[in-house]
Amino acid sequence: MLYETKGPFRTMVDVESGTVDRGIYADEGIYQLELERIFARAWNFMCHESQIKKPGDFFLSFIGEESVIATRDKKGELQVLLNSCRHRGNAVCRAEEGNARSFLCTYHGWTYGLDGQLIGVPGYKDFYHEQLDKSQWGLVKAGKVASYKGFVFATMDPEAPDLEEYLGEVGRMGMDLLAEKGDLELVGGVQKNLIGCNWKLAVDNLFDWYHPQISHASAFMSGFRPQLEKLSQEDQELAKIAGIGGGGARQLQRAVLGAYGHAIGGPRLTKIERDARAKLGDKIEILNNDRFRELPQAQQVLGEVGIDTAGHPNIFPNLWMTGFQLSLRLPRGPSQCEIWWFTFVPKEASEERKKVIVHGANHVFGAAGLLEQDDGENWDQSTRAMRGVVASRYPLNFQMGLGQTPVSVNEGVAYIDTNINEHPQLWTYRAWAEWMDAESWAQLKQNHSAAPKVGDLI
Ligand code: FES
Ligand code: FE
Repeated sequence: MLYETKGPFRTMVDVESGTVDRGIYADEGIYQLELERIFARAWNFMCHESQIKKPGDFFLSFIGEESVIATRDKKGELQVLLNSCRHRGNAVCRAEEGNARSFLCTYHGWTYGLDGQLIGVPGYKDFYHEQLDKSQWGLVKAGKVASYKGFVFATMDPEAPDLEEYLGEVGRMGMDLLAEKGDLELVGGVQKNLIGCNWKLAVDNLFDWYHPQISHASAFMSGFRPQLEKLSQEDQELAKIAGIGGGGARQLQRAVLGAYGHAIGGPRLTKIERDARAKLGDKIEILNNDRFRELPQAQQVLGEVGIDTAGHPNIFPNLWMTGFQLSLRLPRGPSQCEIWWFTFVPKEASEERKKVIVHGANHVFGAAGLLEQDDGENWDQSTRAMRGVVASRYPLNFQMGLGQTPVSVNEGVAYIDTNINEHPQLWTYRAWAEWMDAESWAQLKQNHSAAPKVGDLI
């Protein structure tokens, strides 16, 4: 254990100087407190409604390290139940997904209904003498369950604000950047793999547009990015205007910052670029991912800030949207993270286009993804070094862009238009410290940073 005291965590994330104490990635006690104060309290993404369409459909998900069953009961209501029998704690559901009439514990046979009620106890009459109050021994239920545009979330804490309020402007925008891509269906199977890194490094990286030109240099050389030289001269000119190619990350960046730690970081797509991309259309397949931005409905939902925002959203604490995919960074101890990938396709897309989307998804992220293999190596090495006795005396640096560009606010959304920066990362760590310092939702509601204000220099 490197750290004797647990907080105040604000001292470990110095937002004035832009430094973060390495102990937050290594200390076992801090990790345990994260499970309690972040994961057991936050709204966690469970699954897509299309995965649990009918009564009895279930999908096994996680809240922190705890297994939960997301299901639909006989009345058609969404339920999220702790996957632990109330008798000796055994898992009552072992399959990752499927359809069930009830959940039978394989240890002694207690049986639970789809709404978590204890409905069957072997020996109820002879061994328990009908004295067991079954109404008190149902599966533990989530404090709140809700769906945002088909994406199901749950919180174990009944004191949490409702989902829409929790998401706020920025969380909703993040979800809308995927939801507005059409009527989506999940491609069968969720890709899962384990990386030897702290979960926060995997979250931090999703905002990181500083690393691609170095970390992913070999991936880019392999030609998996759009092959511009195959285009006509005229289209190559158009591609330049569209901001495609050139290698590395685009310089025109936008950080969108919201309450409770939700943030979006990455490229900004101007109208000129969007128009050029629309003209190129099918000639560069990946551009189809952004076509929804031309739809009046998407423009209305995303608003003036959202329509130009092409970066990566993170719904605090650990849900990332990119392209047609969702990724969870699930904590598995201070030095392990389980990465999950859900891939969607628009229902109305042709079979050929669906294949192209899935092929692209598999080649970029997930266990076989070119980029994730590069990233995972770096996160693994960073995590190893965080445990060093000497290394732990030296904080990490998050000073890129610090205090340089004033915050803008449009339609209630706070953002910073600038060059490549580390604003979303530092914003996430600031929120992390606030969540960790708060002893209850009441305290967190009172003490968390709201979105920054116009002119703020952060
Ligand atoms: Fe489930 Fe005993 S542990 S019935
Ligand atoms: Fe990367």
